[in-house]
Amino acid sequence: MPLPVPSTQDAPRLAAARVLDPNTDPLLVGLPRQRGYGQWIVSRMCDVRAVLTDPTTTVDMLTPKAIARFLSQQEITLDQTLEIMRIIGRAHRVPNDAERRDAIAVTRLLQGTLQDLDMASMLGALALAEGRTVDVMADLLRPMLAAWRATALAIDRDLGQRIEDGLLAMMLAVERHGPSDLAPVEPLARAVMQDLTLLEKTRGAAREMPITHWISPAFLALLPIAYTSVSMLAHLADTPELQDALRARPELRPGYIREVERLMNSFRYGTRQIGATGLNLGDAWLPPRSLVVLDFSAANRDPALWQEPDICLLDRPRQPTATFSLGPLACVGGQASRQFLSLLLDAVMERVRVSLPRPGPEPDRLPTQWSITRGYRMCRLCLSSL
Ligand code: HEM
Repeated sequence: MPLPVPSTQDAPRLAAARVLDPNTDPLLVGLPRQRGYGQWIVSRMCDVRAVLTDPTTTVDMLTPKAIARFLSQQEITLDQTLEIMRIIGRAHRVPNDAERRDAIAVTRLLQGTLQDLDMASMLGALALAEGRTVDVMADLLRPMLAAWRATALAIDRDLGQRIEDGLLAMMLAVERHGPSDLAPVEPLARAVMQDLTLLEKTRGAAREMPITHWISPAFLALLPIAYTSVSMLAHLADTPELQDALRARPELRPGYIREVERLMNSFRYGTRQIGATGLNLGDAWLPPRSLVVLDFSAANRDPALWQEPDICLLDRPRQPTATFSLGPLACVGGQASRQFLSLLLDAVMERVRVSLPRPGPEPDRLPTQWSITRGYRMCRLCLSSL
C-alpha cells in the first residue's frame, strides 16, 4: 500500500509536508510538476508507467524509513508503530518476495469464496418497497466485506473488522500527529498487534504464513473496494437514466465496470523515489533521489489515451488503467476487485433501485480521510426493492 511522501529526511521539513487532499486536489494531466524541494508529481499515464516500471525506482526513502530514522535520532522507541509502518511502507521488499506470494495466496482465498457472497439477499434485506435511506458504507459494504473476509479466511468477523479499523485509525493518526509526535500512535499500533496475535491463534486459513503478511491483502485492501463500491452506488443514484439502461441491457455492464475502475479509483496517490541516476521521461527529467507522487486518478483521465476523459462512456476500447498501479509492487487484487464490483452491480440491478435520499439537515456524504484515498466514508442513499 502506498503512503504519503514526506517532504524530506529531516524532522522540521517532515513536519512541514503539505498534506495531499485526494478528494479536492484538481485532476490535472500534464508535464511533471515540482511540488517542493526534491519532490515531483507526475500525472500523464506515460510518466506514471515510466516511474513505476523503472528498475532503479524504489520506495526506500518514503515515510516509514524517514520516520524510523528521525525517531532513532531522538532515541524514541515506538516498536509496534514502526513494525506496522514498515510492512505498509514496503521499503524492505524485493520483487516477487514471500510477502507478495503470500498476498497472492490470500487474494486467491478471497476470490475463491466471492461467488458464495449473497449480495442480492444483503441488498434485499436493506431495501423497502417504498424506499429506505441507509448509509451504504456502514449498512451494506462494511458488513458485506467483513462477511467475505470471515468466510474466505475462516476468521472471526468482528475481530477482522476491528483490525481493519485499527489499521486505518493508525494511518490517520500518523498523518494527524506528524512524524515528530508519533507517541499517540503507539497505543493504536499495540492494539492492532494484540488483535493480530489473537487472530494468529484462531485463524482457520493460510496458517503457515506470518500473520503480518495478511495486513495488506486481508485488511487494508478491502478499504479501496469499499470506497469504489460506494462511489459506484452514488454514481448510479446520481444518474438514474444510466441505471435504467444498465438494468435493461446487461451487455452494457462490463463497459460500465471499466469506467468505474477508471473514474472512481479510490487510491488516488502512490509514491516512489527515483534512483541514483535520475529518470529521463523524454520531455522532462526527474533528478536523482527525488520523491515522486503518482496521481493515478489524473493518469486515468489522460486525454492521450481517452477522448472526453471526464465522461463515463460505456463503449470505450479496453485500455489498462493506473488504478491498481503498475510494476513489481502493483496491486495483486485488480481481478478480485473487478469481479466484486461486477457481482455487486448485478445484484443491485436485480434487487434494488438506488436513488438520492430526501435532503435533510445533515450532509448525505462524507469524504474519505486518509490522504491517499478518495471517495466517501459515509454515503446515504435510498434503496427501493424491485
Ligand atoms: C478497488 C480496489 C483496489 C484498489 C483501487 C487497489 C489499489 C492498490 C494500489 C494503488 C496499490 C499500491 C501499489 C503500488 O504502490 O504500486 C495496491 C497495493 C496492494 N493491493 Fe490493492 N487495491 C484494491 C483492492 C485490492 C484487493 C481486493 C487486494 C487483495 C485481496 C489487494 C491487495 C493489494 C496488495 C497485497 C498490495 C501490496 C502489493 C505489494 O506490495 O506487493 N488490493 N493496491
